[in-house]
Amino acid sequence: MSQDAYRLISPSGNEIELPLHEGTTGPGVIDIGKLYREQGVFTYDPGFVATGSCSSDITFIDGEKGVLMYRGYPVEQLAEHSNFLEVAYLLQHGDLPTADELADYENTIRYHTMLNEGMLSFFKGFRYDAHPMAMLSAVVGSMSAYYHDSTNVHDPEHRDIFAHRIVAKLPTVAAAAYKKNIGQPFMYPQNHLNYSENLLHMLFAVPAEDYEIDPIAAEALDLLFILHADHEQNCSTSVVRMAGSSAANPYSAIAAGISALWGPAHGGANEAVLQMLEEIGDASQIPKYVAKAKDRDDPFRLMGFGHRVYKNFDPRATIIREMCHKVLARLGRQDTPLFDLALELEQVALKDEFFIEKNLYPNVDFYSGIIYRALGIPTSMFTVMFALGRSVGWTAHWREMIADPKGKISRPRQLYTGPAQRDYVQVDAR
Ligand code: CMC
Repeated sequence: MSQDAYRLISPSGNEIELPLHEGTTGPGVIDIGKLYREQGVFTYDPGFVATGSCSSDITFIDGEKGVLMYRGYPVEQLAEHSNFLEVAYLLQHGDLPTADELADYENTIRYHTMLNEGMLSFFKGFRYDAHPMAMLSAVVGSMSAYYHDSTNVHDPEHRDIFAHRIVAKLPTVAAAAYKKNIGQPFMYPQNHLNYSENLLHMLFAVPAEDYEIDPIAAEALDLLFILHADHEQNCSTSVVRMAGSSAANPYSAIAAGISALWGPAHGGANEAVLQMLEEIGDASQIPKYVAKAKDRDDPFRLMGFGHRVYKNFDPRATIIREMCHKVLARLGRQDTPLFDLALELEQVALKDEFFIEKNLYPNVDFYSGIIYRALGIPTSMFTVMFALGRSVGWTAHWREMIADPKGKISRPRQLYTGPAQRDYVQVDAR
């Protein structure tokens, strides 16, 4: 991180010199750490539109150029040549693994997929129609009660064990939530299967018969997990960092991240896109819905469109659109009309002045739901799938945050706009 200075003039005419830090690539940041101490003012940036909350070595995004890199590797290259667990290793450890390191990591994940049996009884307590994201967040939060041998956040070995447990056990929890919803028996993981195959097995196999895993389905899931694996300081990752900054047990920090991801402005958008496409129903209705999205008095937004950072295109959406063609050709002919509708909606929106002017493009969630649906995954599970991919990013960021010797508890300040001081009045005098 190189240093230079940034100069501001205060209202009283004083020159204030603030350090300017340059990262490896991308815009530099003005270090305002001493501003309050020396000038008595805070900075104000609701929604962190122009504020870096930390420095990080993990992921880089150039929103203008549509670039996404994990540890310096373009996501397109990882999507083409790598697999999810290799990407998980890369994000967590900083470099691509050697063959031996990869084999070790895959084995560790493979042999930690089972849950403590006591955790399964949690699912009995949920209503049959509980949303799987609610179950995921609750059960992950409860993991600290089952695995409290590894919650000393200051012990690097404990941090390793925690990271393995989250990545390995989350698919098992996710599949158990789905089985609860559909009233089928829970399926135990199978150690001879890889990460995505195992998930398909736990979701779709039943004890009464053999289940054959479709390699295209496993490949598609693996690709989606790579694309969802990390996205620098997004809402849920920032929540994980913030919750973890108090040195809280890490399972509760991940549970907080899962809750943040659930919202429709974030990971919940993939579920909302499918609901929207079904509501639109037919290409003839597209102009009506585009007009609703443009109407400032209508809260409706085109779900799967727009992004805080990408202002040109979302590279993940481009890759997923290609995968949609492949998956639908192979598996999901009945979903082709929905994909056709999505393609048509994309074309109409991309030619519309409103969307052009505001730089609104399809994001990662616009097409991912179509693939999930073609794989037989119900809409309510879409955001759970996103959480499985993002769990490796959350864990990598948590580790980076907690291992930082200069780390501080996250504690933003505010612009107070409530009443000025006033005196208490007895109730009978009000
Ligand atoms: N449909 C219609 N108008 C939109 C949309 C949309 N999808 N997205 C943004 N706008 C408008 C918005 O009304 C605003 O207009 P104006 O300047 O007139 O006030 C302008 O574009 C800028 O939008 P913003 O809400 O200020 O931008 P933001 O960076 O705060 O929000 C977003 C980004 C992703 C929350 C937003 O684009 C959105 O709600 N999109 C739909 C939900 C969605 O697809 N979310 C998934 C994001 S990608 C995956 C993830 O991160 O989890």
